[in-house]
Amino acid sequence: MSRPRDRDRAASASMPIAPATHTGRAVMLAPSILAADFARLGEQVTEAEAAGADRIHVDVMDGHFVPNISMGTPIVASLRRVTRLPLEAHLMISNPDLFIDQFAQEGIDSFIVHWEGNNDLMRTVRHIKSLGKRAGVAINPATPAAILEEILQDLDQVLVMTVSPGFGHQHFLPETLPKIRRARQLIERLRPDCQLSVDGGIDAATAPRAVDAGANVLVAGSAIFNEAESVKQAMQRLRMAAHT
Ligand code: DX5
Ligand code: ZN
Repeated sequence: MSRPRDRDRAASASMPIAPATHTGRAVMLAPSILAADFARLGEQVTEAEAAGADRIHVDVMDGHFVPNISMGTPIVASLRRVTRLPLEAHLMISNPDLFIDQFAQEGIDSFIVHWEGNNDLMRTVRHIKSLGKRAGVAINPATPAAILEEILQDLDQVLVMTVSPGFGHQHFLPETLPKIRRARQLIERLRPDCQLSVDGGIDAATAPRAVDAGANVLVAGSAIFNEAESVKQAMQRLRMAAHT
């Protein structure tokens, strides 16, 4: 459990603070701009940075790998000019190999590519690393954690999808919790420095469950960018929930 004093400090801080949870791991927040107001994107990202976001999560969708279209390299180039935070591209596209160099040039610091549909994941991951970028692999809800075993040594990050990819504002799938635990066990055994992200339906109610299962990076869209509260308030709420 985090101590009350830590929680108070986290609530009042404007700079990043990441006290350890009862799991002993600090938890990072990665706001997903898919839920942002695109007419005010720079402003909202600046607000997230001031409120202590650890990185910005950029969901790239091609209408083919997932049934939705989102954003591409011009958004990354614009974001690069307004924030110093690391930019993370979650590539939900059929052929990520064709676009990685371009995204890297525009300012992406880390890539998350899906296991599903990739014919040679090792090649994709090693290409990302050859560009000096961080590499992560995402797995969909129906994909077992076991597939990570042969690739984990090369990864900086694993992302467990806690909804089916393609859309924001979906409900967290509790069936993914045992898999988050299995992914955490594999990471502890094979690559303890590897981060474990969860993505989809993460809010103040589901964040503690995901953290308890072993996640240490929370990707959140609608729980951070919404009409009900400011980005700063939303992030404080999420952070406090994650640390209880
Ligand atoms: C979904 C995306 C998520 C999405 C999460 O395919 O990968 O990053 O933005 O949105 P929320 O937090 O609203 O579920
Ligand atoms: Zn995502």
